[in-house]
Amino acid sequence: VTPLWLDCDPGHDDAFAILIAAHHPSLKLLGITTIHGNASLKNTTANAGSVLEAIGRPDIPVYPGSRKPFCRPAVHAPDIHGESGLDGTDLLPKARFPPVTDKNPILAMRDALLAEPKGKPWVVATGTLTNIALLFATFPEVAEHIQGLSIMGGAVGEEFTTAPMSRLPGEQSRIGNTTPFAEFNIYCDPEASESIFSNSVLAPKTFLITLDLTHQVLASTAIQDRILNGASGHSESPTVLRQILHALLGFFSTTYATVFGLTTGPPLHDPLAVAIILSNLNPEFAKKHPRTALKFDDKGGERFAVKVVTDGQHGQDVSVTGQLGRTIAFPKEGHGVAIPRGVDLDGFWNLIDYCIQRADEC
Ligand code: BDR
Ligand code: CA
Repeated sequence: VTPLWLDCDPGHDDAFAILIAAHHPSLKLLGITTIHGNASLKNTTANAGSVLEAIGRPDIPVYPGSRKPFCRPAVHAPDIHGESGLDGTDLLPKARFPPVTDKNPILAMRDALLAEPKGKPWVVATGTLTNIALLFATFPEVAEHIQGLSIMGGAVGEEFTTAPMSRLPGEQSRIGNTTPFAEFNIYCDPEASESIFSNSVLAPKTFLITLDLTHQVLASTAIQDRILNGASGHSESPTVLRQILHALLGFFSTTYATVFGLTTGPPLHDPLAVAIILSNLNPEFAKKHPRTALKFDDKGGERFAVKVVTDGQHGQDVSVTGQLGRTIAFPKEGHGVAIPRGVDLDGFWNLIDYCIQRADEC
């Protein structure tokens, strides 16, 4: 069983990342830190607690992390995730237990990770990177100790071919979802992100899940139906958890259609950052589970040095060049960041369904 720590900003897609992390039998979720991002820290923290309650894992501790980036105001995404950060259903329960506030969240991460055997635990980040940057800056020994770091963030490579976005009037193409070039998680705290990618201990153990991959994983209406009724179609009425997840995806679909004109279903970005631990690209997992490892494609082991553009102010760089928060990936032999470019879609949706079933059984 692989231990992991999840840092997130729930967030509709973050909820699915929590689901896999908390319920896959090959994973042990040590704890969650929350971060400013899709909504305020207060809201993302409440949402994390609600999701854990809904999936039957209220035992997992939630630590509220940073309220804002190092040197900028926080940016939120109510147009995508609603005012609460997780709009779309009244069925989500409130957390039974309050978040943990009597221990520093960065220290909690460090202690939990170092308590696991060296080379075993993973850190997964599905929000902006302020907490994670603080972790590795304050306790560099954690970078040596962990097996890997998986981040949902960034936009590299070609413009979207499957799902062109048209948020900015008059634009023909774009690779970012917040500006023409920048992805939201990196845009929110570009300095924190740069500190991660320039860390030479971390780079060779980092997976970066970028938008060109996540936009292949669209929760179409057929997928939404499958989330509600299960892979084989239920004869009885759907469980409350299935109803919750279905309603969340319905809301997410509507905002993606409104904001991006994307009518084929919203991309389920964040769970891919957890799923990569259960994949062929994680040699340790693939060796133990050669038949069930989820297949990702990293184009023959491509590796990159990643730079983040940190010049510019939020809000002033949106429609002109969109450079602030841009991730630029330079090919690098051997020791760079891995950026998977494709995934077995059926395998991914089966994984989600499997984890919903397990949550419903507990
Ligand atoms: C990322 O931004 C957030 O809105 C999502 O939760 C995801 O982590 C996608 O750009
Ligand atoms: Ca997120």
